[in-house]
Amino acid sequence: MNNILKLTPSLKDYIWGGTRLKELFGRDNGDKRISESWEVSVHPDGLCGCGSGTLSDYLAENPQAVDREGKPFPILIKYIDAKQNLSVQVHPDDVYARKTENDNGKTEMWYILCADEGAGIYCGFKRDTSRGEFLEKVENGTVEELLNFIPVKRGDCFLIEAGTVHAIGAGCVICEVQESSNVTYRVYDYLRKDADGNFRTLHVDKAAEIINYRAYSDRTGSGKSVHCGGGAVRLLTECEYFRCRELLLSGEYSERAERSFVALNVLEGKGEVNGMKFRNGDSFFVPCGESFVLKGKAKIMITDEGRAEKYYAGIDLGGTFIKCGIVSSKGELIVKDQIPTGSQRPYGLIAEDMASLVGRLAKRAGVKVEAVGVGSPGIIDSQNGVVVYSNNIAWKNVPLGKELEKLLQMPVFLTNDANAAALGESYAGAGKEYNSIVLVTLGTGVGGGIVLSGKQYEGGGSAGAEIGHTLLRINGEKCTCGRRGCFEAYASATALIRQTKREMEKYPESAMWSICKNDAENADGKTPFDAMRTGDQAAKKVVKNYIRYLGEGITDLCNVFRPDAVLLGGGICAEGETLLKPLRKFVKKNIFGGDGYAPVRILAATLGNDAGIYGAVRLAMCGVNAD
Ligand code: BGC
Repeated sequence: MNNILKLTPSLKDYIWGGTRLKELFGRDNGDKRISESWEVSVHPDGLCGCGSGTLSDYLAENPQAVDREGKPFPILIKYIDAKQNLSVQVHPDDVYARKTENDNGKTEMWYILCADEGAGIYCGFKRDTSRGEFLEKVENGTVEELLNFIPVKRGDCFLIEAGTVHAIGAGCVICEVQESSNVTYRVYDYLRKDADGNFRTLHVDKAAEIINYRAYSDRTGSGKSVHCGGGAVRLLTECEYFRCRELLLSGEYSERAERSFVALNVLEGKGEVNGMKFRNGDSFFVPCGESFVLKGKAKIMITDEGRAEKYYAGIDLGGTFIKCGIVSSKGELIVKDQIPTGSQRPYGLIAEDMASLVGRLAKRAGVKVEAVGVGSPGIIDSQNGVVVYSNNIAWKNVPLGKELEKLLQMPVFLTNDANAAALGESYAGAGKEYNSIVLVTLGTGVGGGIVLSGKQYEGGGSAGAEIGHTLLRINGEKCTCGRRGCFEAYASATALIRQTKREMEKYPESAMWSICKNDAENADGKTPFDAMRTGDQAAKKVVKNYIRYLGEGITDLCNVFRPDAVLLGGGICAEGETLLKPLRKFVKKNIFGGDGYAPVRILAATLGNDAGIYGAVRLAMCGVNAD
C-alpha cells in the first residue's frame, strides 16, 4: 500500500511578492502575486492539504507518522518569491517564543532556487554590534549599514539561527525550511507602505531583546555531494530541528524514513515516487517507517528531523565558589560541578580554573560546547566582557570575557551574577509565572535582579539593580563596597555567618558550638537554623534578627517596585518555610498600605543555586550583548 501523501499548499500574498512561483511551480490562486507557498505545514496560519483533509488532521490521527515518539510536527517548508526586499527582521528562539507568543521559535534554512544578477541576502551583523548602536541605526533608517550582505547564486544554502537579524533581498526565489512557527519581529521596512497606504507594524523592542549582536558566523555546515545509487546526495544543513539534503536524482534512488517522517520537495525535473508521478513544485510527506523509491531525473530536497542538539556552558562566579553547568538547547542541565574560587588569587588563575572546569564538564558530558555565559559579581561591561568593579572579588577592570575567550576559543558572554539568576528564574524557574519579579540572591554578597513587565532592568551601563548596596542602617556594619550599613552587610550569607559567630562567642553553651565541632570557623549559614531546631535560644535570636534584617530590606523593595513576586536565591533558601514563613509575616505587616491590595508573593527561587547557571546559559544561547 502506498502511504505517501501528496500535499497541496497554502498560498500567501505579502507586499513584496512576485509571479515566479507561478512560472516555476504553477502555483496559482487567481491573484497576480504570490509571495509564499507553504508546501509542508501544519501551522494554523497556513495549513496544507492532503487527500480530502489537511496534513494536520492526518497527523492528529497518526502521531507516529512524525517519529516514533509521536512528537509534534516540527517544521514548515515554504517557497518564497522576493520580488522586492523582505523587511529586515528577526525571529525569537523557542524559549522566548513559547513564553511570549505561544508559538515556536524560528530557526530557518534558505536554499536558493534562483537569484537575479547581483541579488543577495542580509544575514547577521558585519561586525560585533551593540544594542544601542542597533537601536540608533533603526531609528535613523540606516540599519542596513550594520548588516552582512551576501551575494547568492542558485544552489547556495544558509542556516539562519533564531536571533540572527536578516532579510531576503529582491530577486531571490528560495525554498525555506523552518521550525513550525509564524513569529517575526520586523525592525525595518524601507519606509514602504502596504496597499492601503499604511506602514507595516514594526516590533523593534522585542527584536532588540532577542537579537544576537555578535558578528555573523556561518554555521550552515553544508557537505559535498556524495554519489550513491540513483544520483548524488549533498547535506545542505542539519540543526536540532531539521536535516536537509539535496538529491540530484538520475535513475532510481530508495530510502526508508528511518529517523522520522521525510518531506520531499521536487525543485526541478520529473519522475515518480512509489509509482506516483511528480513534477517540479510537487511536495510529499512520507510517514516515519515507510520506504520511498524515487525514479526519474530531478532535483529533490529531502528533509527529516534534525538531531544536532547544541550545548552551552553557564558559569556562576561567586566570591566563594565557581559553579558551572552544561545545558542543552532544549534547556536540560546535563552536568554541573563547583570548585572554590580562591578569590585572593590573580584573575588569570581564576580564569584558567573557570576554563578548565568548562573543559572537564564538556568532556564528562561528551559534548561540544558552543558558547559560554558567565555571571560575575559586580558592575559588568557586557559589551566588552569586562568586570569593571567587583567588591566581593576585589577586581577592577578585569577583562574576564576576553581572557576566557582566549582560553576556551569560543564566544563568552558576561553579565552580573544576580542579573543572570533573574534571567534564569524568569525563563525557567519561579519567575515564569509572573511579569514583574525582584530576585534577591543571598550569598557572599546580596545580589539583585529586576524584571519589570517582562523586561530585565539593569540600569545605566548595566550597573544598577545593586540591591545589596542600599542602606539598612546609618553608620552600620562596614560593607565590602566601602560604605557602612549596606543591606548586604546584614542579609548576605557572609553576614549571617558573622552574626552567628558573634553569638557563639557570647554563649559558650550554645548548641551552635557542638554543631560546629567546637570550631567557630566551621560555622555556615545552616548552623543557626540547625541549632534553633534543637531549641537553642542563642541560635533562635540569630535567626530572628537575620529575618528582621532581610524583612526590612525586602519590604523596601516591595515599596519601590511592588512586584508580583520577590524571589530569594542562594543556599540559605534551602531552609524553605523556616525562613519564608516569618519573612512573609514581616512583609505583610510592614508593606506600604498593607498587603490587602496588590500583595507581593515571597518565594524561594525554584532553580535554587542553579538559577545563575541557567541565566548565564540563556545569555550564551542568545548571544545577547546588551549595553
Ligand atoms: C555585588 C553584586 C553581586 C552580589 C552577589 C554584591 O556584593 O556587589 O554585584 O551581584 O554581591 O554576588
